[in-house]
Amino acid sequence: MTIVGFTSTGSKRPHALFGPDVEGLPQRMHRSAGCMVHATDGREYLDFIMALGAVALGYGHADVTRAVIDAVERGTIGPLSPDDESSLAAELGAAMPWLENVLFLKTGAEAVAAAVRIARVATGRRHVIGCGYHGWLDWCSDADGVPLATRDLYATVPFNDAEQTQHRIRAAGDRLACVVVEPVIDEAPGSEWLAVLRSETERVGAILIFDEIKTAFRIAIGGAAEKWGVKPDLTVLGKAMANGYPLAAVGGSRALMHHATRTWISSTMATEFVSLAAARATVAAMKAHDVPRRLDAAGSRLLNGLKRLATQHGDLGIRVAGIPQMCYLRHDNVQTSHRLAIECARRGLLFKRTAYNFVSLAHDEAAIDRALDILADALAAC
Ligand SMILES: Cc1ncc(COP(=O)(O)O)c(C=O)c1O
Repeated sequence: MTIVGFTSTGSKRPHALFGPDVEGLPQRMHRSAGCMVHATDGREYLDFIMALGAVALGYGHADVTRAVIDAVERGTIGPLSPDDESSLAAELGAAMPWLENVLFLKTGAEAVAAAVRIARVATGRRHVIGCGYHGWLDWCSDADGVPLATRDLYATVPFNDAEQTQHRIRAAGDRLACVVVEPVIDEAPGSEWLAVLRSETERVGAILIFDEIKTAFRIAIGGAAEKWGVKPDLTVLGKAMANGYPLAAVGGSRALMHHATRTWISSTMATEFVSLAAARATVAAMKAHDVPRRLDAAGSRLLNGLKRLATQHGDLGIRVAGIPQMCYLRHDNVQTSHRLAIECARRGLLFKRTAYNFVSLAHDEAAIDRALDILADALAAC
């Protein structure tokens, strides 16, 4: 027996990483530490994919590992809510005061779906406008197998387009339950777009949801809401919150989150306390080491290096997309993107070709300079 589609995480499929020709390239791994990955081909790779952004402190961070071992020794799970759940909620609320109440789930997709459900219950409306990737679940997907009636309730707006956003929110009017946005898509959000999102949702009585699954704990502990000062009604957290352990959350004001109790949102595993303990240790380490500032410094070194390389190799049709904390090279030609990912892997670097690379606390200047040297060499071979 084997796994359908090679692996259960789509973005880890070899063709997603490297393209169709994957002979001799790393496909499975058995160990990670800091920013290094040990693949089953016996080689060690310098990694910038960082578990698709799920890890910002580095793999196997000592404080998180200690908290996890302690939670495992305390039994992992039980019939009652663990005290780690309320402690973590309080710690998140202290870091992000706009989260008076939170609800924990296991995956990002589940937590955004929960936010949308809360918005639908609170407003009594069904329509949703989205911007970005919010997971694989039916409410926001147009993949095969999603009923048309479900698709009809979801529309998208282009990122950073204040005019279109205003137009579509006004057109949806009193049918609109919520607007869900990723606050960063390939560039920082403009202040005009953020202001339109805030004022127009208020105008039609819809809920504004920030999907901060990639941005929180990275551009600031409180994500885009903290960095750019626009407060959403509901916030969704995930990925880096527990440094690689499965945990996500939705939070907002007490009054709005109360609507969660008027519907049914629940998961058996939401209250296992290994991930909750991991998140508590992660948030503490983020504050203690001023992680967002350090990611900004490390990421800026990477981003500036990528810009230099893109200029030097303009003939290859590459541009830099993203912000310091999450960036990549955007290719005009998909074959070049395959070749570059392959040439990087051959030289010991895992560097995402069509989606974000993430720096972590484990990426020191030497690691970033090494990646840039490998990228320069690999680009020359493309
Ligand atoms: C912004 C955003 N929202 C939601 C999700 C879905 O999270 P998960 O894969 O944990 O379900 C992702 C995952 O990449 C994401 O980046």
